[in-house]
Amino acid sequence: MKIEHIGIAVEDLTVSNQIFEKLLGKEAYKQEMVAGEKVKVSFFQVGDVKVELLQATAHDSPIARFLAQKKEGIHHLAFAVENIQEEVERLKGDGFAFLNEEAKDGADNKLIVFLHPKSTNGVLVELCQDKNAYG
Ligand code: CO
Repeated sequence: MKIEHIGIAVEDLTVSNQIFEKLLGKEAYKQEMVAGEKVKVSFFQVGDVKVELLQATAHDSPIARFLAQKKEGIHHLAFAVENIQEEVERLKGDGFAFLNEEAKDGADNKLIVFLHPKSTNGVLVELCQDKNAYG
């Protein structure tokens, strides 16, 4: 596994895009809506890793709930895997709990699952696989 991206929950994507543009000296390479997650996201490439900024698009979005409890900040850590369903089975066998075991569509052309933070020291962990990698 390697770190694929770090997800940051933000109140206002336009404002945060400007902050990260200034910080990193470059523009987001992509911005998109993820309907299933009720979020609007942007991505910045930083070396081999990406920063994903996430803004809620509905009051019942997971990001809206996170912001209500914890304010803006780091939301999740995403690890790239080659075969997401194999990793889910492996980790389930080791006793990890998941928020979703069935891979679903994520941003940036990925299939994703989330582990339950109670399994991972309070850190929300995402596993992601390139959709194109296995057709
Ligand atoms: Co993510």
